[in-house]
Amino acid sequence: MLTHKPITNAFDLYSWFTLMRTTNPVTYDEDHHAWNVFSYKDVYQILTDPKTFSSHILPGEGFIETSILMIDPPMHRHYRNLVSQAFTPRRIAQLEPRITEIVDTYLDSVIESGKMDVIQDLSYPLPLVVICEMLGIPMEDRDFFGYWTEIVIAEFAKFQGGDLEAQQKLGAYFLQIADLRRKEPKDDLISALLTAQVDGERLSDRDIQSFCMILLLAGSETTRNLIGNAIYALTEHPEVLAQVQNNLELVPQAIEEVIRYYSPVRFAFRVATSDVILGGQQIKAGQLIFPWIASANRDEHHFTSAEHFTLDRPAQQHVGFGHGIHFCLGAPLARLEARIALTSMLQRLKCLRLSHEEHLEAIVSPSLQGLQKVPVYFQP
Ligand code: HEM
Repeated sequence: MLTHKPITNAFDLYSWFTLMRTTNPVTYDEDHHAWNVFSYKDVYQILTDPKTFSSHILPGEGFIETSILMIDPPMHRHYRNLVSQAFTPRRIAQLEPRITEIVDTYLDSVIESGKMDVIQDLSYPLPLVVICEMLGIPMEDRDFFGYWTEIVIAEFAKFQGGDLEAQQKLGAYFLQIADLRRKEPKDDLISALLTAQVDGERLSDRDIQSFCMILLLAGSETTRNLIGNAIYALTEHPEVLAQVQNNLELVPQAIEEVIRYYSPVRFAFRVATSDVILGGQQIKAGQLIFPWIASANRDEHHFTSAEHFTLDRPAQQHVGFGHGIHFCLGAPLARLEARIALTSMLQRLKCLRLSHEEHLEAIVSPSLQGLQKVPVYFQP
């Protein structure tokens, strides 16, 4: 574990964050040999300065280590430009009718029963199906793909690096699809990646494998938790739930507040490239740093009534999707999936309330924040 405290409740860490922001906003953790950084100002500074705070924390040539998330400029700029051509906001916006259809199919299958687990019945499968369809994974391969993806995601979420066999199986599979698309392009992301070009240069096979892998890893657990945390936060604040139910145009604002209030990504990671002073502390070149996004998003020096869950905030001040050059590439997709899922749920599930019959346990990942189950009751 990377935190000082065992996590029993998914959102337990917030009192620790408040204490640390007040007493030790930049502090060295001897057990994990890393600096923890808690204030908005310092977290923001780290995310804004990739020259001093490198994302290349893991040596090695695995797909994840060499992915866009873990490389620095100038290579990062090059890859980001290439993949951005395929992963455009326009391409994402076109997915709206299909995502609506998928969400409605999931809700159809539980609506009669008057209860569901938001995670298992909707927010876990949704991002995976969407990414499969975007990449163009054929239906007949979904079982194989789903099996290996689950293993890679579970290992990564526990912050234990990747399972090599699973990464290799998936990597080989992505290449197989790329070969097919090279011969016969389709309207899918892998075909678009194959044709993306910057200064006459294209992505190599290896780059395509790395990118597909990071999409699976960065895009599935995070979105799963965003939707789960949203339903949890809304049922915890019935006045806000009523406000959104009365005006579904407020759903996007509610999503931004959930990302701030119960951030799906708890912390990012960086390594110092040179000696640097941060928050009065001397960080040495080569030392590992965790900028705590979830704590920055509750910093009372940056947010008025930071501990309040409210829709009356100026838009998008949080760092829940990061900031700077590594700002989440998938943010438009996550926002779209969450907007459609929440809108459909609030429209179709009347008198939505959390079941208090079970203890709600946190997911095991230290870097991600969410619940294993979000059981709810409603009137069909
Ligand atoms: C980067 C959060 C969904 C793909 C990031 C970063 C954060 C983040 C904090 C920055 C990490 C850093 O600076 O080290 C989230 C949250 C999500 C979400 C909270 C959902 C609620 C997605 C989705 C995708 C995605 C759906 C794609 C399918 C990526 C990629 C990067 C990234 C590729 C790396 C970008 C780069 O390094 O240039 N995300 N993410 N994310 N995210 Fe997301």
